[in-house]
Amino acid sequence: MPHVALAATFAESRRILKSADYVPTAMADRYRDIGERLGEDFSPAIRLLELLPVFVSGPRHANTRRDMALRIAAARPQQLHALQQHTDRLPALLAPGQTIDLLARFVRPLWQALADAASGGLHLPASLVSGCTDLFDSRSRLRARLTVNEALREFIAADPATADQRLLILGQTVLGIRPFIGSLTLSLHALFSANLGKPLARIAYPARFPLSSLPTTDRWRTSEQTDTPADERETVRCVLHSARFSTAENDEAMYGIGAHACLGRPISNDAWTMVTARLAGLDVAVASSTLALHTPLPHDDDDLLKLSDPFIKPRSLKVRIES
Ligand code: HEM
Repeated sequence: MPHVALAATFAESRRILKSADYVPTAMADRYRDIGERLGEDFSPAIRLLELLPVFVSGPRHANTRRDMALRIAAARPQQLHALQQHTDRLPALLAPGQTIDLLARFVRPLWQALADAASGGLHLPASLVSGCTDLFDSRSRLRARLTVNEALREFIAADPATADQRLLILGQTVLGIRPFIGSLTLSLHALFSANLGKPLARIAYPARFPLSSLPTTDRWRTSEQTDTPADERETVRCVLHSARFSTAENDEAMYGIGAHACLGRPISNDAWTMVTARLAGLDVAVASSTLALHTPLPHDDDDLLKLSDPFIKPRSLKVRIES
């Protein structure tokens, strides 16, 4: 087992994330190691993981980050349009007397519209996108990893000439889906549960997401970049969002700090601003808000160290609306 240390304070987390002595964990190396140990060919998964800027460093990082940043910036007008269209649906969804699952009826469709607006017409099967995010979970079953690997092999083989471009689009979707859906769902629940029975028009809305579904990120010391297998390298887990941080610190760290800061930050913040502006125009109240998660929320440092999956994944957000 690797030694994992926690950078739990804002100052320590920020120091590590900005330091040239630490690099993102090379997720592709994990799959090289597993493949070698078990005699499996993980080259399709490795090819995708090496296109995800969040798991690479140096010139490879600079190149993929630039390509993704250009694609994401170009999609911004269509994404803003999709945001407008979806937030316009909130009054009908939140009619008095309704009980609805906001995750299924609003947050996921909103994400799908944003992802479609940025995918240039490429259809990405939901199971492929979701399976790829499970590649990051250190406790995923081998069978599940092999299934995603084979789905990626088919995705690449469908048109080898355009595979890199299509993998890049898949990659940006894979990086955005869990933090966006999770943070919006957790944040809406936090807001509603703190204001039960109060007209939405009278709530004081925070300017930024009050919660994040990506509470930590891992780094390796560069001196550990040796022949040590990926799963045994010394790791520092940096906290990105915490009840112990000030609002300003959470704002600074939530999307990452330094060279790997999130490329989806502008559109995600726009989404929070537009959703809360629409809610603030409604005369109804949320009478109850019930959040169900796939994995429990981490409560203390031990919980954060034990996380095998970087993402907190919501299952549903049921809200009851009253006039
Ligand atoms: C509330 C929503 C989001 C949160 C909380 C979030 C959080 C983060 C964090 C913390 C990082 C840095 C990870 C690290 O340093 O190890 C990151 C990186 C990244 N995010 Fe987001 N993200 C969100 C939405 C999105 C969306 C919608 C996209 C899709 C375009 C996206 C694309 C990326 C990319 C491409 C990177 C890698 C940047 C790099 O390594 O150079 N994110 N995100």
